[in-house]
Amino acid sequence: MKIAVLSGDGIGPEIVAQAVKVLNALKSDGLKIEMEAAPIGGAGYDAAGDPLPASTLDLARAADAILLGAVGGPQYDLLERPLRPERGLLRIRKELNLFANLRPALLYPELAAASSLKPEVVSGLDMMIVRELTGDVYFGEPRGIEVRPSPNGGSERVGFNTMLYSESEVRRVAHVAFRIAMKRDRKLCSVEKANVLECSELWKEVVIEVSKDYPEVALSHMYVDNAAMQLIRAPKQFDVIVTGNIFGDILSDAASMLSGSIGMLPSASLDENNKGMYEPIHGSAPDIAGRDIANPLATILSVAMMYRYTFGDSRTAGRIENAVKRVIAQGYRTTDIWTEGATRVSCSAMGDAVVKNL
Ligand SMILES: NC(=O)c1ccc[n+]([C@@H]2O[C@H](COP(=O)([O-])OP(=O)(O)OC[C@H]3O[C@@H](n4cnc5c(N)ncnc54)[C@H](O)[C@@H]3O)[C@@H](O)[C@H]2O)c1
Repeated sequence: MKIAVLSGDGIGPEIVAQAVKVLNALKSDGLKIEMEAAPIGGAGYDAAGDPLPASTLDLARAADAILLGAVGGPQYDLLERPLRPERGLLRIRKELNLFANLRPALLYPELAAASSLKPEVVSGLDMMIVRELTGDVYFGEPRGIEVRPSPNGGSERVGFNTMLYSESEVRRVAHVAFRIAMKRDRKLCSVEKANVLECSELWKEVVIEVSKDYPEVALSHMYVDNAAMQLIRAPKQFDVIVTGNIFGDILSDAASMLSGSIGMLPSASLDENNKGMYEPIHGSAPDIAGRDIANPLATILSVAMMYRYTFGDSRTAGRIENAVKRVIAQGYRTTDIWTEGATRVSCSAMGDAVVKNL
């Protein structure tokens, strides 16, 4: 199994180093793993003047799976838009056709106190958000900032983007979501804003068409504003949510707080053949970068997802997930999930603890 390791910026290299420790431990247990590193994001810009250097894209194409840290940082915010780190990430998702983004939100019982919601609201939470990743307003054309006549005479700048989904884009992500629902509690909620957006109206129609192939799955529909409210009010009503790129971006960050910290949530981004890029859902956290205090568990759990979804090895996935469960049960906490009485550990000590428990 060849894994492209793209650490990126900010806390990226710190958290990815912990996931690599886990991979190395599995390797010394006999699993065949080959890893090769390459720069992306700000690191790509620094190394090659491009947030997605051609050699990085080549490596990602040749690999069986990609492990990514995070990209971005204030030092890159003034670059021209195509050179900014986030563009590198959008491009690699698009180039590799990684259209299905799987974001589980699971609460470890011991972390109930770290959630900002009451323990009884979140305990036992186990849901999956399937977010479409290569369409929507993030990619739709036309987009831009230009000068147009203003209603009061004269002219002014306007910014615009296009929310756009084709039937085939909705259909393929809907199939992924239904298949995942079939393996879970067979409940799928499609989230859109069909009361005001034509793009959402089409989304809903196509999801209903696809549902005919999955009669065992109970399909429901919810407007995104209500979904945001329900996620906080009664999150356990959800099993699988399927939604578009921008709604999924926002809802999954909200869902992350249910599980205690954004540092706990892994993700998988898959293509048609289950080749995937695996990354934590959080960003590069420049506010804590370089201090060895970031939570590496989302990145380590992303490796577990890699084994489950791309390598088809649920045993190894389960081993990694159980090691994380044990570390949590043993009371180890990075600062973001620390509560009174627990053992506060650094990012690297957390990585060591997971390896010890593998
Ligand atoms: N996938 C990605 O690479 C990705 C995603 C989101 C944001 N970004 C980029 O990251 C940069 C920072 O963005 P932001 O501050 O909005 O979001 P962020 O996710 O980086 O950070 C939000 C907050 O969560 C904390 N946090 C994040 N990950 C953590 C971890 N593993 N352990 C402990 N605390 C953690 C941060 O310290 C910060 O307070 C920006 O340049 C943004 O564009 C990248």
